[in-house]
Amino acid sequence: MSEEHGTLIKTPKQLIVVAALALITPVTVAILGSQLVTSAKRIDTAESKRLVIERIKPVGTLVSTEGAAADTNASAASAAPAAAAAPAVAAKAKTGDQVFNESCVACHGTGIAGAPKAGDKAAWAPRLAEGAATLYDHAIKGFKTMPARGGAATLSDAEVKAAVDVLIAKAK
Ligand code: HEC
Repeated sequence: MSEEHGTLIKTPKQLIVVAALALITPVTVAILGSQLVTSAKRIDTAESKRLVIERIKPVGTLVSTEGAAADTNASAASAAPAAAAAPAVAAKAKTGDQVFNESCVACHGTGIAGAPKAGDKAAWAPRLAEGAATLYDHAIKGFKTMPARGGAATLSDAEVKAAVDVLIAKAK
């Protein structure tokens, strides 16, 4: 019975130590490993957000050519592209005339498809009688064959209202 070689575990105490290590080691490795993986997702500081916005911002930004003020803005923007990244989303609101010429004139310029023609007082008189608030509402939400925001979904409420004001002014 001298065949006790072949195993390093010779006492119950050693068995307990080995069993404990066999349990603790993989758990520790798993915890450390998961921390390593999840810690990569924890970079949500303001700086990293700014960097993400910087990377995903549109290639081009709309630069208004109206006057020198816009030029100053443009050069300031190129001097500080990081600062310009966020405000680019909240671009300067378009004027009523700009919106009208870009998004409304296609139908209201000629009176196509039953659209009341801009400046056609007879066509607009009954609509003006509805009141500006109703006209704003109809222009923003759509009305019969009039598409919501004239089909330009990116226009803000204020921009659509400004274009309605242009139509109202032309109809008076
Ligand atoms: C695709 C064509 C089309 C475009 C683009 C369009 N409209 Fe219209 N719009 C219409 C038609 C058609 C009507 C008449 C709807 C009716 O009364 O049946 C109308 C009616 C209106 C009215 C009168 C609503 C009422 O209550 O009588 C307003 C105000 C108006 N449009 C504003 C705008 C503005 C502002 C834009 C641009 C942002 C615009 N429209 C773009 C087709 C268009």
